[in-house]
Amino acid sequence: MKTLYLSDKKEDILKCAEILKGDGIVAIPTETVYGLAGNALKGESVKKIFAAKGRPSDNPLIVHISDISQWAALVKDIPERAMALAEKFWPGPLTIILPKSKIIPDEICGGLDTVAVRMPSNETARAIIDACSFPLAAPSANTSGKPSPTTAQHVMADLDGKIDAIVDGGSCFVGIESTVISLKDDVPRLLRPGGITPEMLKEVLGEIIIDDAVYNKLSEGAVAASPGMKYKHYSPAAKVILIKGSYDKYVEYVRANLTDSTALLCFEGEELQDIPSVTYGKRDDPSSQAKHIFDSLRALDKIGAKTVYARFPESEGVGLGVFNRLVRAAGFNIIQL
Ligand code: TXA
Ligand code: MG
Repeated sequence: MKTLYLSDKKEDILKCAEILKGDGIVAIPTETVYGLAGNALKGESVKKIFAAKGRPSDNPLIVHISDISQWAALVKDIPERAMALAEKFWPGPLTIILPKSKIIPDEICGGLDTVAVRMPSNETARAIIDACSFPLAAPSANTSGKPSPTTAQHVMADLDGKIDAIVDGGSCFVGIESTVISLKDDVPRLLRPGGITPEMLKEVLGEIIIDDAVYNKLSEGAVAASPGMKYKHYSPAAKVILIKGSYDKYVEYVRANLTDSTALLCFEGEELQDIPSVTYGKRDDPSSQAKHIFDSLRALDKIGAKTVYARFPESEGVGLGVFNRLVRAAGFNIIQL
């Protein structure tokens, strides 16, 4: 299949909508990461998304809307606290899980009785949904297991020839996927940290539970609240090791354990002259780390790194999202100095 390369101009948005109306699948920009979109109300389109990504069929997709009024048809009921969240954080990087309605095809939910919905703030994404007049199912537009794509070039590297088209909307503003919160039980449960922080959620919801899978590797045989948590994630080809400790100790450790194909994944200004170094944002600025982390993980593969020693991020606020992605990229391999 030839993948059509589209711009984010009006006539190309209409072309993109035509492809989606014909049950095709198109990679589209959002403020978090690029999504691989298809008609959320058609099982046929949804199946194509799973196939192109090589995604396990029990890992459910997020449904994207362009206006709050489209939400009610997708869920059984919108409780007050869900509406309060949406009014505060939509459009934006927050996904809300509620019991699903009958119009959601089974293919989307991977056997669950809930559906995840979000309204992106990216204007191109919302213009595409508007032009389709149906909601779009869209997982991150990467090959399953690879780092999520934050540029059109990342998407092409993974999916060129496997999808109908890509809309190039430049690089993504947030850089990590949306925060996912489940409201299916009495106490809200944070399943995936992102640009909307636990503190921001607590301001609206009061008490929330942070799912154990946010911090820790799922134990053997445990049932994941979010099926995505159990799969290998964000992995570059290189082996990534997270190093916790001061910068001086980090450098000392790297030098003591150097091989031919060692690289650093460090903060801006921490690069070493004699060892290949890739940076992921500023040390004191988790938002800049979020913006760069996936691009940096891909860059490490490009330079042929085999062993990567990564600096440990602060895991507060947006930093919790950065930590969550990096610890998975490292397969939970952490060395405390
Ligand atoms: O920012 C984002 O959310 C991006 C952009 C494209 O919108 N999308 C994205 O989708 O990250 P994906 O499929 O890569 O991640 C969705 C996550 C997965 O971990 C999945 O298991 C979880 O959300 N999820 C989806 N529906 C769920 C449900 N009903 N219950 C529990 N977890 C769910
Ligand atoms: Mg993903």
